Amino acid sequence: MAFLSDTLARVKPSPTIAVTTKAAELKAAGKDVIGLGAGEPDFDTPQNIKDAAKRAIDQGKTKYTAVDGIPELKKAICAKFLAENGLTYQPNQVSVGTGGKQILYNALMATCNKGDEVIIPAPYWVSYPDMVELAGGTPVPVVATLENNFKITPQQLESAITPKTKWFIFNSPSNPTGAGYTWDELKALTDVLMRHPHVWIMSDDMYEHLVFDDFKFCTPAQVEPGLYDRTLTCNGVSKAYAMTGWRIGYAAGPVALIKAMGTIQSQSTSNPCSVSQYAALEGLTGPQEFLTANKTLFQNRRDLVVSMLNAAPGITCPKPEGAFYVYPDISGCIGKTSAGGAAITNDEAFATALLEETGVAVVFGAAFGLSPNFRVSYATSDEALREACTRIQHFCQGLK
Ligand SMILES: Cc1ncc(COP(=O)(O)O)c(C=O)c1O
Repeated sequence: MAFLSDTLARVKPSPTIAVTTKAAELKAAGKDVIGLGAGEPDFDTPQNIKDAAKRAIDQGKTKYTAVDGIPELKKAICAKFLAENGLTYQPNQVSVGTGGKQILYNALMATCNKGDEVIIPAPYWVSYPDMVELAGGTPVPVVATLENNFKITPQQLESAITPKTKWFIFNSPSNPTGAGYTWDELKALTDVLMRHPHVWIMSDDMYEHLVFDDFKFCTPAQVEPGLYDRTLTCNGVSKAYAMTGWRIGYAAGPVALIKAMGTIQSQSTSNPCSVSQYAALEGLTGPQEFLTANKTLFQNRRDLVVSMLNAAPGITCPKPEGAFYVYPDISGCIGKTSAGGAAITNDEAFATALLEETGVAVVFGAAFGLSPNFRVSYATSDEALREACTRIQHFCQGLK
């Protein structure tokens, strides 16, 4: 009898974590490595948030809390949804979990049965398909192309919907492409969803605050109020507030779904860390000015990376609307041989040779469901980015 469960066969270890680990190993071995793999801001959690956490500890807020979040935080989340997204939710429509990841996982675990299909626009965040599989559902990728700026069309969505479709997962701005849907582009998708009342919408708004130029963020239940009763609007403090390690994510949606997600959480992790909840409360209710400053910083880095990568032969790098990623196309590099003698047969071979020959760690596109590409996380210093992009340029110039 096998010791490991059949469930395990349905998931792969995260390729983004694998790249980060490989880069760390090479660094430890003394190699000069620049990691562009990690999906987290490179700056520290704001001081007022850290102070709130220290106060929570000193005040003894270190015990179990309500399973899906303290009332003060739920109230603050309702206020955030109303002020920033024009969405009215009551605290019993809100769930707080251990990161955005647990929120999405709870929702899928609470709703997916064998055979249920979940539509996932590709390129996608690596965890979506695996989480769907873990929950017993079937991921249905719908591939957005470079020509359409990595956004799916209403026709593509319409033709992916079947009677078995349970969820449509929407992520804008996107990890890994940074692509953000405008109000009109999203409205065209919600018009399709209005014609299919059995399909629920899981909107992952994790990068809401990281949008550039004059791009305006919007979310499905805001664009089409007719979808409010079947939309789970998910968000978190990890990216915007530089709080990845604190592990707080949240969502709002219909009461029955929120209750079901709480049941899953109650028998797995129970409440998210009490201290982190108070820190997140300060994040959401305290000064927000640094969000604008960070946006400017990231926008400048995006511009730097896009222009430097486009100067590398064989690379086409579109300029995304948000997040802190770019997803260059490397069709022009495939089929060549690197200066170090590696055959660049696909994007994984490209990323491996790039790391081994130049010390730049990126994540290959196949991991995100669209090739040949790679993902750069530009959440690192300008100096490191400039050096990494220079090395990528040299690597590409060396391809024969
Ligand atoms: C699109 C997307 N959703 C959700 C998450 C999960 O965030 P958290 O760290 O809050 O679990 C991430 C993290 O990389 C992400 O990129």
